[in-house]
Formats: sequence, structure tokens, C-alpha cells
Amino acid sequence: MFNLFKKTPPLGNFAFLGTDMHAHLLPGIDDGAKDIEDSLSLITQLQQMGYRHLITTPHIMADLYPNTPSIIRGKLEEVRKAIAAAGIDITIDAAAEYLMDEGFEPLLEEGELLTLPGNRVLVEMSFISAPPKLEQYLFRLQTKGYRPLLAHPERYLFFHDNFKKYHELKERGCEFQLNTLSLTGYYGKPTRENAVALLKAGLIDYLGTDLHHDRHADHLRAALESSSIAKLLTSNTFKNQQLH
Ligand SMILES: [Fe+2]
Repeated sequence: MFNLFKKTPPLGNFAFLGTDMHAHLLPGIDDGAKDIEDSLSLITQLQQMGYRHLITTPHIMADLYPNTPSIIRGKLEEVRKAIAAAGIDITIDAAAEYLMDEGFEPLLEEGELLTLPGNRVLVEMSFISAPPKLEQYLFRLQTKGYRPLLAHPERYLFFHDNFKKYHELKERGCEFQLNTLSLTGYYGKPTRENAVALLKAGLIDYLGTDLHHDRHADHLRAALESSSIAKLLTSNTFKNQQLH
């Protein structure tokens, strides 16, 4: 008999996504994994949560983390070797998470951007305010043949009372990636509410872990045990599986 109050079973694992496309798993180059042991531990935990493919996305911030494609590729090779030596059954690639500040403009104009499959560029902005040149950056990315993909839109609370801004960004060709952690309340209640609103509006294209450390992993495992989170996520479809 149909039961209106039937609880959605918890997800149990992230195998339905297959690919995680936002995480900080390379050792010692941003605020994620501290060393190679830490990298292997985080990667193992993601594998145990059901991911089969990881695209790690170190920060690129002009002042704090001036990472370059060659630094990132070097660290990726180090991690791939360690994964093989440890016999961990998972595939790992690397892109980057670009902060759209003043330092982004020269990279966009002259540099080689590290991309997710489909020439997608994972971009983030300050949590305080949108960059004055946001629209220009998004337009410029697209004229150069890239597809902008905005990391954790739910965390930009300055858009919370201006929800139409999210629709505008989508209409401008920007894809959205939600942090699964936002649904657990890890970043606070306003972020959780914003995350739910974005999901319910059908605006989210991808789910990401944005995994930096063990505490994040603990909260991700908690998300897998939650029937309310399962209900929210199973009423949406995500494009993670297309990233390979
Ligand atoms: Fe991130």
C-alpha cells in the first residue's frame, strides 16, 4: 500500500554518482591533504564511500595558493604512484578550483586553465561578496571555449535574498556544483536552507564532496545515513556520471 509517510532509505554510499569532481586531495599544496599519507587516507575513505573516480581540484588563489598546472600535475603523479603501490582500486585525475579574484584575470587571458571533462572550469568566489567582474569572467570563459562551473553556490549567502541571481547565472551558461556537506548543516543553517532551495529549484548539476580533511569525511558518512538527505538527493538527477 502506498504510504505517504514512508521514509526514504538512507543512501548508504555514493556509488550513484561514481565520480567526485571537487576535493582537495593532493599533498601539501593547499588547505586539503597535508602529506602523502593524508592523501592516501582521504582517497581510501572516498573509495569506501562508493566513489570509483576522483577528480581532485586544488585551490588556485594568487596570494594564498599560487598553484600552477605543472605543480598540480607533479603532485598528481606522486599520488597516482602511491595509490598503485598501496593497491587502492580507484582512478584519480586533477583539475583545479579557481578563485575569481583579480589574480584570475591574467590566468584567464594568458594561461592554460586546468579543466574538468568537457572543458569545464571549476570556479569559486569570495564568501563575502561577488567579484565586481563576475559576469565578465563568465562571459570570457565561454568565449575562450570553456564552460564555467560554479563551486558551492549555496555558500554564497549574499545571493540568498536575491535568489533570481542564481537563475540569471544558470541562464548565462554557468553550471552549479553543490557541496553534499551543506545538506548536513556542516556550514550552518542558512547554507543548508540555501542548499535545499537550490536543489528544489532544480538548479544543481553536480554534487561534490569538497573534501579537505577527516572531519569532512566524518560528516559525509553521516550524510549517507540520513533519510532526509536521501530524499532530497534522490528526487534530483546529477551529471557526475558524465564526467569521464
Ligand atoms: Fe573546494
